[in-house]
Amino acid sequence: MIRKIKYRGVSFVDREDEENFILDRLKEEANNILFIYGPKSSGKTNFIEYIVEEKLSKKRDRFYVNYINFRGYALVNYSSFLNIFSHQRGA
Ligand SMILES: Nc1ncnc2c1ncn2[C@@H]1O[C@H](COP(=O)(O)OP(=O)(O)O)[C@@H](O)[C@H]1O
Ligand SMILES: [Mg+2]
Repeated sequence: MIRKIKYRGVSFVDREDEENFILDRLKEEANNILFIYGPKSSGKTNFIEYIVEEKLSKKRDRFYVNYINFRGYALVNYSSFLNIFSHQRGA
């Protein structure tokens, strides 16, 4: 059965498997980057914000949402990703 709950006052539907997956993943050592990709408006941002706000709220000092705008950058390999990441964070 599809789970349907309220998040920010509106319906939040069918993300139980993804929720279990990412909560398990966050218990592991942080050795890897996890990319979540999907079509525009498929719910990526909403899902991450839900996890941080609703599921990790007791660990707010360790988890937060940070936005990086990759538009206008050439992402050609892993190191170019890391360069943009550190540059945009002002590091
Ligand atoms: N699990 C969900 N159930 C119902 N509506 C959702 C769900 N996830 C996202 N939405 C709605 O879909 C729209 C797009 O979600 P968003 O997270 O912005 O997508 P993306 O980041 O992938 O572009 C938003 O209006 C959001 O409220
Ligand atoms: Mg988004």
